[in-house]
Amino acid sequence: MAESGPSGFRLVGGWLKEANTRFAAWFNRVTPKGLYPRSLLIIVTPMVILQSVVAFVFMERHYSTVTRRLSAAVSQDISAVVALYGVLPRDKDFSALRSIAWRNLRLKVDVLPPAPLPPPGPKPFFSVLDSALSREIGARVKEPFWIDTVGRSNLIEVRIKMEDAVLLVFAPRNAAYASNSHIFLLWMVGTSLVLLTVAILFLRNQIRPIENLADAAEAFGKGRDVENFRPRGAREVRRAAVAFLEMKRRIERQIEQRTTMLAGVSHDMRTILTRFKLELAFLPDGADTEALKKDVDELQGMLEAYLAFARGDPGEQAALTDMGQVIEDLRLNAERDGATAEASFMGPPLVEVKGDQLKRCIGNLVNNAVRHARRVAITGTRDARWLIVTVDDDGPGIPEEKREEVFRPFLRLDDARNQDDGGSGLGLAIARDIARAHGGEVLLADSPMGGLRASVRVPV
Ligand SMILES: Nc1ncnc2c1ncn2[C@@H]1O[C@H](COP(=O)(O)OP(=O)(O)OP(=O)(O)O)[C@@H](O)[C@H]1O
Ligand SMILES: [Mg+2]
Repeated sequence: MAESGPSGFRLVGGWLKEANTRFAAWFNRVTPKGLYPRSLLIIVTPMVILQSVVAFVFMERHYSTVTRRLSAAVSQDISAVVALYGVLPRDKDFSALRSIAWRNLRLKVDVLPPAPLPPPGPKPFFSVLDSALSREIGARVKEPFWIDTVGRSNLIEVRIKMEDAVLLVFAPRNAAYASNSHIFLLWMVGTSLVLLTVAILFLRNQIRPIENLADAAEAFGKGRDVENFRPRGAREVRRAAVAFLEMKRRIERQIEQRTTMLAGVSHDMRTILTRFKLELAFLPDGADTEALKKDVDELQGMLEAYLAFARGDPGEQAALTDMGQVIEDLRLNAERDGATAEASFMGPPLVEVKGDQLKRCIGNLVNNAVRHARRVAITGTRDARWLIVTVDDDGPGIPEEKREEVFRPFLRLDDARNQDDGGSGLGLAIARDIARAHGGEVLLADSPMGGLRASVRVPV
């Protein structure tokens, strides 16, 4: 099979790889996902395996060997009694036999009139003693016998059928049986329970700082307050927490810097604009100055909007907000602006968000819809993970390839369509800004109503 060599190898390699991936997938599926159960599993599994092996080896080797040896000793004694029975004089109640057996061998012996042996009893569940003793007696005593190791709590009963009698022998159970070996197992199980308890308590304390860090990062991502979070726990976890706090501080500083800079620029420009206006006022009226004045006004409007945008998040705190109410308010506003609007909300309406901000975000989408369409539908849904508010309209929509572009500040598609009617082109940029500050996003798509579908999605 020389020619199939390399491809055969490849085939086997492929199988192995496939089996490996399958195994990894299966393993991933069946093992618990949390860090806590996983760490517990890492501690418990070796412990259980170790103990099972130790217990097995112990039972197999030590326990059964000792039991066998003890059984051998007892059966030797019994065979001695059988031999004695043969040679001692048979007086009325066999007192010599009984006293020798009791004094020297600690066996209680009786001689019964001949009778058939009882049928063999049921094998005890824990039958090391039973089988060892049967074997040992069978090897040493040639007569038929019957044993009962479970009938009495601390005695073993053996009956031996002699030619002219039945010998009844009681041996103490613990003479034939390594009885206190269970203590060893008890100790083992007991100590492992202690170990497990310690592990559970200890691990919980180790896992909690990681959970806290995850919570803090999640809250920060959703734009919520990160309250009294301090680095805790093991060194690595504390390092991650410190790094997170550092990062949070840097991001906050950057936002602050951006806001200050933009505000500064806008302010300076506003000063110049005011000067411009003043100078324009001194010019004689005419068509040229009219146009100039209009431009300056427009510029000022843009600047005001920009300032508002730059000011951005005015430090609003996230609080429980009734989104159903927010949506209803927006619907009323839309109606007031002359559109036919409908609103609905599904799911628990109380959500922890920056209510005013989110209202502004959705409001911008509704304003756009009202500006471009006649009918508007606002739909809110909330499940365990997301709050989604969708604004549908029956207007012209936005072509697919422009849907990213329109988020750019000051970009207006309808510049050419109707100059005066439009806004400053900041609405979508602001909406996206707010959604992202909540850890969410604004998405544009085709609406089943024929126009644009704009949806805000934020994690709850
Ligand atoms: N529902 C819509 N239907 C059609 N076009 C839209 C819709 N929403 C937005 N647009 C287009 O996207 C552009 C950008 O929208 P954006 O909200 O950012 O600015 P704007 O509405 O022009 O101004 P502002 O919102 O600041 O008053 C709009 O000029 C418009 O051309
Ligand atoms: Mg707008």
